[in-house]
Amino acid sequence: MKLLVTGAAGFIGFHLSLRLTNEGHEVVGLDNLDPYYDVNLKKARLDILSQSELFRHVNISLQDERSMSDLFKTEKFTHVINLAAQAGVRYSIENPMAYVNTNLVGFANVLEGCRHNEVEHLVYASSSSVYGMNTKMPLSPHEGVDHPMSLYAATKKSNEMMAHSYSNLYDLPTTGLRFFTVYGPWGRPDMALFLFTKNILEEKPINVFNYGKMRRDFTYIDDIVEGVVRVTKNIATANPDWDGDNPDPCTSSNPYRVYNIGNNQVVELSRYIEVIEEVVGKKAIYNYMPMQPGDVPATEADVSDLMQDVGFKPDTSIEFGIRKFIEWYREYYNA
Ligand SMILES: NC(=O)c1ccc[n+]([C@@H]2O[C@H](COP(=O)([O-])OP(=O)(O)OC[C@H]3O[C@@H](n4cnc5c(N)ncnc54)[C@H](O)[C@@H]3O)[C@@H](O)[C@H]2O)c1
Repeated sequence: MKLLVTGAAGFIGFHLSLRLTNEGHEVVGLDNLDPYYDVNLKKARLDILSQSELFRHVNISLQDERSMSDLFKTEKFTHVINLAAQAGVRYSIENPMAYVNTNLVGFANVLEGCRHNEVEHLVYASSSSVYGMNTKMPLSPHEGVDHPMSLYAATKKSNEMMAHSYSNLYDLPTTGLRFFTVYGPWGRPDMALFLFTKNILEEKPINVFNYGKMRRDFTYIDDIVEGVVRVTKNIATANPDWDGDNPDPCTSSNPYRVYNIGNNQVVELSRYIEVIEEVVGKKAIYNYMPMQPGDVPATEADVSDLMQDVGFKPDTSIEFGIRKFIEWYREYYNA
């Protein structure tokens, strides 16, 4: 495969690109080193990736139509994995346009590039946040998702619909992946595990939303990478049984699919914090807070389709995953 991985300097893009180059695939890693969080962390990830001759970084913004079109024309990718996005639910409340520009305009450029250059498979990151106000657990991709609670979620749901239109019009195989709260070494500084670890080590209070009553399907990074790699190699096809009278939301009569990738094991936020305390060897100072606007109280992934189609489901325990993260954190930050 010759791959374009967008967001390659990001948390998931870094791990995925590392895995793909280790497997012998050529990877062009697109990332504009967006300053949403510490750019040095992104550069450090790129330094590691650049040790492989199979990896090249290009600094292009997804919404730069001209550069995107040129890149696709010159490189002739066989597979594209779109992870670049303005991530984060809370930030979308203060900076809505960042989401419109990267996640909508940028994604349209990715679709156009794939369409005009015979890309064999487009895989793109969606999110568990598309489930929004749905409460039936586990959250299934066969249920409709029409009630997003944040603009971030709305852009991710829009990506799925945009992808479907290209699968229909241009027969472009597309697979959307709804990731459920991803964590692990080299993780994002705006996410709970990073913030909690940092503050517990520094003996500062941690903000615990919804009074610790959040329930999440925390998914370890290696499981996400395994799922993405398997799905990428398994090109989306049409569902021969798809029926417009009873439309299944996550398949189609076009080469279009959407999967959940989650751990399928729900953990209360308070237990997650307890494990961090055990590994760090210090007690947290709790600052209990109400639910934040745009956040959902619980997520739990139904991963039966993933299991059925690619023979894999995540199963790393938080005890193992949190320990791996904290080992990395202590070493990287000398903490
Ligand atoms: N981490 C999670 O828990 C999680 C959960 C659900 C979905 N996702 C999705 O997975 C994908 C990867 O997430 P992540 O956690 O690695 O995030 P990340 O922020 O670490 O990585 C995204 C990367 O995209 C780059 N980027 C942002 N805007 C860009 C633009 N306009 N042009 C080019 N590059 C741009 C950033 O510089 C960053 O390096 C995102 O699409 C995110 O929405 C992540």
